[in-house]
Amino acid sequence: MRISIFGLGYVGAVSLACLVRDGHEVVGVDIDASKLELITAGKTPVVEEGMVELMEQVASCGRASVTTQARQAVRESDISLVCVGTPSAANGSQDQSAILRLAEELADAICDKPQAHVVVFRSTLVPGTVEEVLRPLMEAKSGKKDGEGFHLCFQPEFLREGSSIRDYDKPPLTVVGANHGYPVEQLRALFGHLPCKFVQTSVRAAEMMKYTCNNFHALKITFANETARLCDALGVDAFEVMDLVCQDKQLNISPAYLRPGFAFGGSCLPKDLRATTYLAKVHDVDVPMLAGILPSNRNHLDIALHKLLATGKRRIGFVGLSFKTGTDDLRESPLVALAEQLIGKGMLLSVFDPEVHLARLLGANRSFIEKHLPHIGGMLQADIQSVIESSDVLVVGMSGGPVFESLATHCRTDQYILDLVHLPNRSAIAAKVVGLCW
Ligand SMILES: NC(=O)c1ccc[n+]([C@@H]2O[C@H](COP(=O)([O-])OP(=O)(O)OC[C@H]3O[C@@H](n4cnc5c(N)ncnc54)[C@H](O)[C@@H]3O)[C@@H](O)[C@H]2O)c1
Repeated sequence: MRISIFGLGYVGAVSLACLVRDGHEVVGVDIDASKLELITAGKTPVVEEGMVELMEQVASCGRASVTTQARQAVRESDISLVCVGTPSAANGSQDQSAILRLAEELADAICDKPQAHVVVFRSTLVPGTVEEVLRPLMEAKSGKKDGEGFHLCFQPEFLREGSSIRDYDKPPLTVVGANHGYPVEQLRALFGHLPCKFVQTSVRAAEMMKYTCNNFHALKITFANETARLCDALGVDAFEVMDLVCQDKQLNISPAYLRPGFAFGGSCLPKDLRATTYLAKVHDVDVPMLAGILPSNRNHLDIALHKLLATGKRRIGFVGLSFKTGTDDLRESPLVALAEQLIGKGMLLSVFDPEVHLARLLGANRSFIEKHLPHIGGMLQADIQSVIESSDVLVVGMSGGPVFESLATHCRTDQYILDLVHLPNRSAIAAKVVGLCW
């Protein structure tokens, strides 16, 4: 293919080298003339393993050229990969000056080009940038429409400095955010051979996914580092601990616990987090990330409370009360905490939870509920239908086919459902369904 690459930093230079190596014709564009001179001379503009040898081959094979002129690069290619920098501004926001300037230049070039050019944004961009900023700007400046006169899409870049050629050849995933089929097919032709899944999604999801990946990586590093600080204070080998943690591929290194939902609770996580942060305090170890987890969890509960109070309705039915579906453990259940707050605000509650039978609750579980919801006996209903029928508002905190079916069968159009479980059959339910944060 004939490709132009805008921005020849770490991402752009490595992409140029690998695409030329793979047989494509590539024109590189940068405003920094010294980078262009290096590439022309067969030298690498970035320090990366394997780039010295690769750039020598690139210069000698005749398939690479460079220019400072966007118009020329667009004319001489069918597809442009945009890899300019998007650094932090002083206030922490994303400095988009380079990409905005470039979008104007690209629009000018597209204006003159009879064929529909494909522009792939590979720079990391805050969600909404392509559709709300770059597309309107380029449509206004070029006088052409996205999806007709040109095609915009977003493909997050996952390579890591230090191993970027290896990462280019073996990415974890190829993700393309696009609103039209044509650019996706072009990118499939370019990257479809790579040994990973090729996934098409919305432009915004692709933009957000890149941030979410980087945030997750930062979170993992900080988690390991805070654990190491605490281990050090306790005389425990942090490497041994983290190695053991990583051997659990079922709950730890897995998709477990990575699905959005309601606040966590139960008899273990809150108390063990409290004990961990207390231990850290006693040993003068700062663990701001670990210490921030329970306040964040509380914030999640507050969002539910505010949404329910904002309905202005008093008769609230709970579907589910225990801390997760399939258990009768009420200890530190966030649904119990929510119910407690609502009762304090004068709401009238009814509760259905098929696992919770007052007569069978024992020990710590029983004393917890007696302390937090002393009048639970009067609220518990044996069947879901009567809870649904007697409520203006429903809080759905448990999953399962029978629950979903009952909601579809018995809900009325005048009811409001706060969905804490991401109901799979929203459209089949007559009530107004509002997700907690989805
Ligand atoms: N570095 C990484 O490992 C990495 C990994 C994944 C994603 N990203 C993202 O990719 C993007 C590029 O990162 P990078 O580290 O390669 O940046 P970089 O700063 O190394 O390079 C950016 C290049 O863009 C050039 N440039 C600026 N304005 C231009 C214009 N109008 N026309 C042509 N070139 C122009 C600059 O001169 C520079 O050479 C960023 O959004 C970054 O967040 C980087």
